[in-house]
This record gives sequence, C-alpha cells and structure tokens, in this order.
Amino acid sequence: MTTQTIRKPGQANATLSYDDRSVSLPVVRGSEGESAIDIEPLRRTTGLITLDPGYGNTGSCRSAITFIDGEKGILRYRGYPIEELAEHSTFLEVAWLLIHGQLPTADELAQFAAEVTHHTMLHQDLWRFFEAMPKDAHPMPVCAAAVGALATFYQDPETDRKVHDTFVRLIAKMPTIAAYSYKHSIGQPFLYPQNRLDYSTNFMHMMFATPCEEYPIDPALARTLDLLFILHADHEQNCSTSTVRMVGSSQANLFASIAAGISALWGPLHGGANQQVIEMLEQIAEQEGSAERFLTRAKDRNDTTRLMGFGHRVYKSYDPRAAILKRACMDVIQRVGVSSRLLEIALELEEIALKDEYFVSRKLYPNVDFYSGVIYKALGIPVNMFTVMFAIGRMPGWIAHWLEMRRDPDFRIARPRQIYTGAPKRSYVPIGSRS
Ligand code: CMC
Repeated sequence: MTTQTIRKPGQANATLSYDDRSVSLPVVRGSEGESAIDIEPLRRTTGLITLDPGYGNTGSCRSAITFIDGEKGILRYRGYPIEELAEHSTFLEVAWLLIHGQLPTADELAQFAAEVTHHTMLHQDLWRFFEAMPKDAHPMPVCAAAVGALATFYQDPETDRKVHDTFVRLIAKMPTIAAYSYKHSIGQPFLYPQNRLDYSTNFMHMMFATPCEEYPIDPALARTLDLLFILHADHEQNCSTSTVRMVGSSQANLFASIAAGISALWGPLHGGANQQVIEMLEQIAEQEGSAERFLTRAKDRNDTTRLMGFGHRVYKSYDPRAAILKRACMDVIQRVGVSSRLLEIALELEEIALKDEYFVSRKLYPNVDFYSGVIYKALGIPVNMFTVMFAIGRMPGWIAHWLEMRRDPDFRIARPRQIYTGAPKRSYVPIGSRS
C-alpha cells in the first residue's frame, strides 16, 4: 500500500484508504473546537471526490461571523450570544456587528444609522417597476426582482467605497422595496420613508400609514419587529446565504448575489416556512379540528404533510431563537389584544410533539419560524409578507458573508463536482431511424 501524506507542522491528520492507496489528510479546527478534514488534496492525490447530497457533512468555507452549536442550542453572532443581543441591541447595531466584526462605538452607530436613513428612498424611476407587476404577485419575487434591478441604477466599478455604499443601500432600501410591493398589491399609494423614524418604525409607517391621516406606531411593537430582524440577521451557511456566496463567487455584484439569496429564501423548507406555519395553524383551527389529528398526518410517511416550523438541519435541540420568540409572542398577543387561538394551537402542537416518540427520536424541535408567524400576524403583517420580513432581517448576514468570501485568501469560484449517472457514450440516431 502506498501512503501519501499531506501534513502541516503540528497538525492532526486523518487517513483515508482506498484500494491500495492511502492518503493522510490534514484536520483543521475552528475556534470553538469543531473539526473538519481538509480534503483539498483528495482528488489530486487519489482521483476521488466526496459525495454529500444536501451538504450535511460539508464545510464550504472558513467563517468568523456566526457560531452555532446545534446540539446545545447555541447561537452567537461574532461571539455574542443571541440572547444578549436580543435583549440589549438594535437591528442596525447587529447589522454593523455582523459586517464589521465588532460592536460599533456610539459615534460609529450614529453615523451608520444616519447613512442608512438617508439611503431609504428609491430612485423615482423604480416606481414604474412596481406598477408593472401584477396586483396579486407574491411579494418575494417582486422583492428579488427589485433588488436585482437596483444593480441597473448603481453601475459603478466595484471599489471598497462603492461596496460600502452598496451594502448601506441594500439595508436601507429593502424595507422600502418590501413596503412598496405590499402597497402596490392593495392599490394604495406608496409612502415615502420618514427620516425622523428609526428603522423598524419607518418600515411600519411605510406599510400601514396612508397619506390621509396620522398613523401612530406603538414603540413596543416596533421594538418587537426590530427583535425579529435581529433574530433573523444571520445563521451561517444556510441555503440562502450559501446561494449568496455561490453567486458572488463568480464575482457577480452584491445586488445580483442578494437577489439570488432572496429567491432561495422563498422556498417553504427555508424562509417560506413562516408563511406555511400560519397557514397550517389556520387550517387546524378551521378544518382539522385538533392538533393531535394534524400531528398524526405529519408523522405518516405516506402523507406529505409536515409540522411546519419544526425541525432543523443544524439544531438537534430547541432553537434558541424560537425560545426568545415564544416569550415575545405571548407579550405581543397580550399587548395587541387579538385572539390568541392560533397561539393556543401552536402551544398545543409543541407540547404534544415534544412528548411524541416520532419527534423526540428525530430530535425535531420548534425552529425560528414556529412562533414568528403568530407575531407577524398580531403586528398586522399580511401572511404573504412574512418571508419578506425574514429577508429584511437576513440582509446584513448575506452582506457579511459576501464580503467575507470576497476577502478570503482561499477565494475561488464555487464549482462542485458530481457523480455522473447518465447513459454511457452512444451514437447519434437519425430521427427517421428512431423507434
Ligand atoms: N415534520 C414531520 N417530520 C419531519 C419534520 C417535520 N417538520 N422535519 C423532519 N422530519 C422528519 C423527516 O421526515 C425525516 O424522517 P425519517 O428519518 O423517518 O425519514 C427526519 O425527520 C429527518 O428529516 P430531514 O428532512 O431528513 O431533515 P433535513 O435536515 O433534511 O431537513 C428541514 C430540515 C428544516 C428542511 C425539515 O426539518 C423540515 O422540512 N421542517 C419543516 C420546514 C421548516 O420549518 N423549515 C424552516 C427551517 S428553520 C428556518 C430556516 O432555516 O429557514
């Protein structure tokens, strides 16, 4: 047997044997002790590649942005526990933290907030874009297309200064785009952003106010929205963030990369789950009758029904974001004074599922989407806008990952390989000779 050793001084190695060959591959460790086999020399030295559908075992990059321990239910942005950020921080402070790597000083935060505030308006020509969309269009593709279209308004070469302006514009304009897509769908006039309002209050103003009268916004509800944005701000290499990195790896610009991320987020297994959760709760309230009966269907392998808002690729314990949102959900329902029927069903589903062998053995717990939909509904956000809320919150995370990728000394275009399973070589058959 021949062994090829790829060893760096002081580094642990893992040995892989195949036929009569063996390769010793370096083991890399992260700052929280998680380990990975660096397979970069694998194909070169053995001719083998790895096969990992869904990437459950694949680390696609080194990243210093977000740490998750899915077994213990830990989530930290740049080292700070999500619980502390949720309690003490604001969304714009968290956005700065994710992008720059440390908490801002008071001056830095004030300057960033001012910059974001002064970039919230959309170019007047973009209004025609919204008018061209069907009234019943789902707002997610409208937002993805509008963000992609921003690239046509800002076409300067990609300098550090221009990238800074681009990420400020994306954070600033995303709520305006989201609110415009909603106003168009209900036939109300667009409202300009108001510079005197903070980020989340301004969004609620653009969503719910009309030019006809004042629309007072409860600061406690605006703070809840801010909290939701904080909890959604990053989640390491999830489907949409990996998409942003993948698209950006071709050196596509930030607008184009994030437009692709918004599209990836739309799917029901990712950000689209929050809309599905509320539809599921409403279905149980109106048709199913009982949480128990619904769960029987969710457990049936011959039924495609799933308990939406439950389960996670990484979390094998309670999603820490869901724990924060469960408490916020109860507070909001009480404050707004709306019917708590959907919350009651959610609590009942959770209680039964967490004792049920099917969910326990598969380590399926509530994820971030389980309670967020009930809160959005209580805040008056229309159901088809729920995933758009997620997109507003995820924006700084997408930006931070795109920037990190571009600055990574290991940067290469992302280009996975495959195991071909199609037909072997065969000769072309003229159409008249085909049976
Ligand atoms: N309801 C019923 N069964 C489930 C559920 C669920 N929500 N989630 C997973 N399972 C079962 C699944 O059928 C499989 O069972 P078996 O081993 O018998 O085949 C087992 O649990 C493992 O599931 P998986 O689909 O292989 O797990 P995954 O890591 O590929 O998928 C997931 C993760 C989030 C897509 C999945 O749990 C799911 O579809 N959940 C519902 C949708 C949802 O809430 N998505 C939001 C995720 S959190 C926010 C975000 O990241 O965007």
